[in-house]
Amino acid sequence: MSLRITQITPALGAIVDGIDLSQTLSGDQLAFLNDALVKHQILFFKNQPITPQKQLDFAANFGELHVHPIYPVLPDLPEIMLIDTHENFLPDNDTWHIDVTFSETPPLGAILAAKKLPSLGGDTLWSSAAAAYDALSEPFKHFLDGLTAQHSVAKSFPASRWATNKQDKEKYENAITKYPLVTHPVVRTHPISRRKALFINDGFTTHINELSLVESNIVLDFLYKHIARPEFTLRWRWEVNDIAFWDNRITQHYAVADYLPERRIMHRATIIGDKPY
Ligand code: SIN
Repeated sequence: MSLRITQITPALGAIVDGIDLSQTLSGDQLAFLNDALVKHQILFFKNQPITPQKQLDFAANFGELHVHPIYPVLPDLPEIMLIDTHENFLPDNDTWHIDVTFSETPPLGAILAAKKLPSLGGDTLWSSAAAAYDALSEPFKHFLDGLTAQHSVAKSFPASRWATNKQDKEKYENAITKYPLVTHPVVRTHPISRRKALFINDGFTTHINELSLVESNIVLDFLYKHIARPEFTLRWRWEVNDIAFWDNRITQHYAVADYLPERRIMHRATIIGDKPY
């Protein structure tokens, strides 16, 4: 099988054909995927019916895996996050976000597998935070370049939802202790491509340290709107057994919550990255 790439939009995204992710990948195949990920920022693989263990094995080729401190995970494979959303477990990822920026070393990427889909809806959008940064004026880029922002796990994971019984409270308190507020640059440099990208997100960023709260709110609000501009985004309509692999250092994503009361099940493996700079 020979690997083929089809680009999706000018800003980001490509479909990869000619690979079976249930097999052990060769050094050449992994190098190809690493290069393609850096270039296209998100890769899609169609018709890949892999088990959770195979998904974990695939993800582990790219680095150490993160275990989510609050969100449900598969009981026998905690490195696989279980995003099983329905009427009685509401989706909470319908916000533009970068995964796990509450960590000192946020993920370099994540691999998401579609397991069960609603009859209609449940798409996911990704935005290139590098294309969004590139489109800003030079004086505004210069203004942002020196700034830092705080990120909080509690912003997307409020105690009111995630610490409602004794067992969850203990898990929640452990998460808050393990992940105190953390500061990251507002603009980060991708460690491989060297591209600069916006690294604030509506999921976890609370404020820009160097600005007053009012100024910070105005700047963040503008940046969140800017990031969501269609020019920087793509929208993926899932089929069961599709797999997406995104570069979390340079993209944001939004899962459209338009399918209730139907059910949607996704499995995510999350690969730990470096400290942003
Ligand atoms: C995520 O927010 O990491 C998962 C996106 C999705 O469920 O489509």
